Amino acid sequence: MAAPKDDPASEIRGLREEIARHDFQYYVLDQPEISDAEYDRLLARLVELEKAHPEHADPSSPTQRVGGQAAEKFGIVRHTVPMLSLANATSRGEVEEFEERIRRFLKLEGPIEYVAECKLDGIAVEVVYEDGRYVQGSTRGDGANGEDVTANLRTVRSVPLRLSARERPVPRRLEVRGEVILPKEKFLEVNAERVARGEPEFANPRNSAAGSLRQLDARITASRPLELFCHSAGIVDGFEARTHWEFLAACAEWGLRTNPRNRLCRSLEDVAAFYGEIGRARDALPYEIDGTVIKVNSLELQRRLGEVSRSPRWAVAWKFRPRQAETRIQEIVPSVGRTGVITPIAALDPVAVGGVTVSSASLHNMDEVRRKDIRVGDEVLVERAGDVIPYVVQSFPDRRTGREHVFEMPAECPVCRGNVERRENEVYYRCTNPSCPAKIEQRLRHWASKSAMSIDGLGEKLVAQLVARGIVRDLADLYRLDVDRLVALERMGKKSAENLLAGIEQSKQATLDRFLHGLGIRHVGETTARALAAHYESADDLLATTEEELLEVRDVGKEVARTILEYVANPENRAEVERLQEAGVRPRTSTRRGGKLSGKRVVFTGSLGSVTRQEAQAIVEREGGTTASSVSKSVDLVVAGEAAGSKLKKAAELGLRVVSEEEFLALVGRR
Ligand code: IVH
Repeated sequence: MAAPKDDPASEIRGLREEIARHDFQYYVLDQPEISDAEYDRLLARLVELEKAHPEHADPSSPTQRVGGQAAEKFGIVRHTVPMLSLANATSRGEVEEFEERIRRFLKLEGPIEYVAECKLDGIAVEVVYEDGRYVQGSTRGDGANGEDVTANLRTVRSVPLRLSARERPVPRRLEVRGEVILPKEKFLEVNAERVARGEPEFANPRNSAAGSLRQLDARITASRPLELFCHSAGIVDGFEARTHWEFLAACAEWGLRTNPRNRLCRSLEDVAAFYGEIGRARDALPYEIDGTVIKVNSLELQRRLGEVSRSPRWAVAWKFRPRQAETRIQEIVPSVGRTGVITPIAALDPVAVGGVTVSSASLHNMDEVRRKDIRVGDEVLVERAGDVIPYVVQSFPDRRTGREHVFEMPAECPVCRGNVERRENEVYYRCTNPSCPAKIEQRLRHWASKSAMSIDGLGEKLVAQLVARGIVRDLADLYRLDVDRLVALERMGKKSAENLLAGIEQSKQATLDRFLHGLGIRHVGETTARALAAHYESADDLLATTEEELLEVRDVGKEVARTILEYVANPENRAEVERLQEAGVRPRTSTRRGGKLSGKRVVFTGSLGSVTRQEAQAIVEREGGTTASSVSKSVDLVVAGEAAGSKLKKAAELGLRVVSEEEFLALVGRR
């Protein structure tokens, strides 16, 4: 981007295009080309220019993704073409019947081509573009009328505010439908934050996506990392596809996100293979799905088939077996978390749910227990959603025997006998004792967890022993452990003690984002911690921050800034950070001088196996290097993943140093 600095209009235009391209790379293709810090700089410059030149304001500007004024209620949007629902099939036989019906209806004999897709478990929306500009977003509602969520969907980064006309002219009007989802990992983060804030948890990723989208204050939507996958069309004026597959390809060319797992199938045989594969991959997928959707590929055939009772004849949802089971609640146990929140947990008669034995389930909070009328001894329906904690869907009051009883939250903390209180407007009860061992245990476990300091061997039982014996009273105490103290514990040999100490020692070198995440500051999940680490040089730097500075950090809004300021203002927290530093924990900042890649430009090509692109780029930055998206003479190192293509060829032509993913990880000391 070489716009002259004295021509604000063209600099603004250039920045908008550049940021939109990076949004596309990051949120649609999952292949960022620049670091978060560089992105933040571009955005900050654009905000500055738009402030100085309000005459160039534009609702399609990437700065408009923040969510403006809260609405009083949602307007109604009438869908030009009704948003239908799908008929279900639960077996191969039913899918074959679906095909039979199509053949009979069309009097058709030859093979039928299908597109097989994941059935995403989110909330259905319609997004409208006119001449390539985002003009409206709505929910499905009852199919005929939905809610106007234009402002909310504008905050979703995978919703382009302008379509790309680079590969294909944009239609005059495009109504595209899709599913808004919250990835599983983000769902857990959002829930953890809600608990910390005293708000009720969402039971599953679907509810959290719906709840996040349908916010009258779109700024709240903006703070939730929602994603959109496009999967069907309303009216399209100015583009004609022959097949659904072609329509999906056109969407991708316009910069809309479609699911890369979608598959063109020549027959039901191919569809069945897809169903099997997706079923096996289900748990590992980053989002929740509850089956596959099979659609006749030819749009001409779709038109001829039409619909019956609000469902198209040309599509069917082949659902997975629900991961639900019935069992009985033996007991309800109050469990104290890291922030002192006490959650009622149901101890269940063990039951197999989708291949996994479940013996406990979260009841979330007392309001939920009362609303669902769940009692000790009740027969209940439990559901497991992927790797998300199982939850109780409902009780069966008509099966009660009279021996069941209502659960009451104890007045004292079940762990330390401290005071339990429920603050106004909160659904949670909390233990108010700051040195409650349960809180310390949870904080230690969070500190040691994979996404924080990643200390192997510091499991639940060990943490419990360390806290119960008073050996560890805060995070810094971990760094004073020695072999003698450890071997005196139950089930702890010399070798395991040494391994654990080595892990603890290694964590002293963790990166700043992990350190900040590990501190367990309310609202500071992995994503926010990364954004903070890209902005601040050190933990001390963060301790000295101001609201103004925090608000400059990407993803940090007023609420997050407030809780971080609350954290840094608390002398106990400051003392803890200081004790950690005294104990030798020196988190590495993202721009490390003297890092292993100091001053080097690195290009990744092909797909990486053991780290994501983003992680790999973060590693480069941490080691003082920068990443580039294309190969040129100025590049120092090319990391070739699997199926590396043209970039690799070019690197060879230029005689650049090329290494494999393993070599790269070894180079930066990760292997
Ligand atoms: S196509 C008429 N494709 O499932 C067909 N829907 O019961 C329109 N859904 O409300 C939908 N994943 O939101 C389609 N790959 C997919 C889908 C999908 C999830 C939802 C959709 C709809 C519901 C239909």
